[in-house]
Amino acid sequence: MRRLLLVHGGRPGGRAARLVAAIQAAVLADVADVTLLVRPALLATAEDLLEAEALLLVTPEHFGYMSGALKDFFDRTFYPVEGKTPGLRYGLVVTAGTDGTGTCRGVERIARGYGWSEVAEPVLLVGEPDDAGVGRACELGLALAAGLSVGIY
Ligand SMILES: Cc1cc2nc3c(=O)[nH]c(=O)nc-3n(C[C@H](O)[C@H](O)[C@H](O)COP(=O)(O)O)c2cc1C
Repeated sequence: MRRLLLVHGGRPGGRAARLVAAIQAAVLADVADVTLLVRPALLATAEDLLEAEALLLVTPEHFGYMSGALKDFFDRTFYPVEGKTPGLRYGLVVTAGTDGTGTCRGVERIARGYGWSEVAEPVLLVGEPDDAGVGRACELGLALAAGLSVGIY
């Protein structure tokens, strides 16, 4: 089985959590030979990253930046994995009240530091995610899972 790691911020029952649940259901339904490991950012480890074959990040925007939980994940893992995950394919989903662009910029800048490669534009969902927005988040998860499944990642 190929391994797709999903690391997420956000509060229990919040928008990010609902997006994660939808992505999880979509990948489970559509891609047979990929294991999706879902980790709250505060519990995700460098080992999770080292074992991952692709990565999906899901976070709310807080004060113009990613959630503190996701930032903490980067703070804890950067040196332990430095130079060990070059080219890791990743995608980003941001849920925001009014903006979200600072989070996209911040995550993409950090991801460049790890040497990761973004597979698509971030999915930025402003306000309560509607069905189309949830669908876009799921499509990004499915694109990563399908890429692993067919061996292009
Ligand atoms: C402490 C805090 C700070 C926030 N700062 C921003 C912000 O800077 N820009 C923005 O667009 N939304 C901001 N929001 C709104 C959240 O990004 C938005 O409601 C998001 O969808 C919440 O996701 P969640 O339900 O998973 O926590 C903030 C929310 C909180 C609680």
